[in-house]
Amino acid sequence: MTSVEDSQVLIVDDDTETLELLREIVGKEGYRIETAEHAQAALVKVDQSKPDVVITDLHMPGMDGLALLNELKSRSPETLVILLTAYGSLKTTVDGIKAGAFDYLSKPFIVDDIRLVVRRALEHKRVLCENQSLREQLRDRYRFDNIIGSSPGLVSVYKLIARVAQTDSTVLIQGESGTGKELVARAIHANSLRSAGPFITVDSGALTESLLESELFGHERGAFTGAIATKKGLLEKAHQGTCFFDEMANISPTLQSKLLRVLQEREVRRVGGSGTMTVDVRIIAATNKDLKQLVDSGTFREDLYYRLNVVTITIPPLRERLEDIPVLAQYFVQKFGSAKEKPVTGIAPEAMDLLTKYAWPGNVRELEHVIERAIVLTPHPAILPHDLPESIRTAAITAPISSGWMTIDALEKDYILRVLDAHQHDIGRASDILGIHRKTLLRKLRRYGMS
Ligand SMILES: Nc1ncnc2c1ncn2[C@@H]1O[C@H](COP(=O)(O)OP(=O)(O)OP(=O)(O)O)[C@@H](O)[C@H]1O
Ligand SMILES: [Mg+2]
Repeated sequence: MTSVEDSQVLIVDDDTETLELLREIVGKEGYRIETAEHAQAALVKVDQSKPDVVITDLHMPGMDGLALLNELKSRSPETLVILLTAYGSLKTTVDGIKAGAFDYLSKPFIVDDIRLVVRRALEHKRVLCENQSLREQLRDRYRFDNIIGSSPGLVSVYKLIARVAQTDSTVLIQGESGTGKELVARAIHANSLRSAGPFITVDSGALTESLLESELFGHERGAFTGAIATKKGLLEKAHQGTCFFDEMANISPTLQSKLLRVLQEREVRRVGGSGTMTVDVRIIAATNKDLKQLVDSGTFREDLYYRLNVVTITIPPLRERLEDIPVLAQYFVQKFGSAKEKPVTGIAPEAMDLLTKYAWPGNVRELEHVIERAIVLTPHPAILPHDLPESIRTAAITAPISSGWMTIDALEKDYILRVLDAHQHDIGRASDILGIHRKTLLRKLRRYGMS
């Protein structure tokens, strides 16, 4: 919940006139409004959209407002509840507040009161989120169990994370682009004693040398043209937390020596500053290049390499852990299926087969994008081969048949889908090319479960 338009309010009342009146008044504030005429319908909507605020009448036939409040407390504890009470029902109102309602509004309503109470509820929720649960959510997101896969290569990575998390040692994470280096760095931080402190990412590849230096170390006012105010550097900001250096190999020789000093002395000096400050940071660095090779060729300082390389975690590329592909793919289907509210629940075996035959030069990130795209495009409840990019489908044709020979039926289906794909799903053209009657083609497609 970040802005007015993102705030969601559900109004529940068996009296349609009140419902419409409230919808109009509260809706004018720009929130997204939903309504329900009884508690059961309200619960369905709560499960679907987790509203920030529920405004409910107390007296309703069937499940009443108090029962709904109790149910909401267990089902959706983050949702704040405002009760609508009739004049003279103070006892039930008090019961409601005791049971955890945020506030109440008594009928007949005063328009400004309604607006005020809803606004206060949303503000309350925002502050709550910022303070504690947001941090907890962020931590949850990066806890270990968000790294998916159980191949031996990844299990070694898990063991290393567990081993280094509780220490303060510098860690170097190596792996091709998209293998999950940042995910691992965050997991180390989240499971460390510093987890309540900040996790600061330094994108070493994105900035010029002088910009990166002032980003990293901060600067004093007037240190250079444009330095109109004193600015804290990222290393300072990471105090008592973790500083993650992404793309370490891109750091210039000058910065390499300055960084070496930080690692040795645990001190930083702002650009243009005279004194030094002690910082308590854990350094994690990542690279998709072979740093050792860069040391040998003279582009990376050997002493810095040894300082960084106290513990090295190497994440194997996805093509070397094919057994992780199905669970990762399924994980992304769930992630994007629910985010985009599309009822896609699985991947057809033929499509999964293609995914496991592809070499994934972009590793997990590429797989994530492929699944996201397929979910957007597919009209089916499962991802089918032709929802996948051409490159993945053709890679399988040219790949040697490693998983055994195909049946004529499977071969036929595969070929038919390819022809359809290549011709914008034009049934007429496809049946011409395949040399079969249009009706025959349609019958085959129905048999494959496609319309
Ligand atoms: N094992 C995994 N389980 C779940 N998600 C993963 C896994 N590995 C990577 N991802 C996801 O893939 C994407 C890329 O991961 P990440 O950014 O950590 O890779 P990276 O190695 O830092 O890549 P780059 O070198 O390009 O910066 C992210 O969205 C991440 O959440
Ligand atoms: Mg990265």
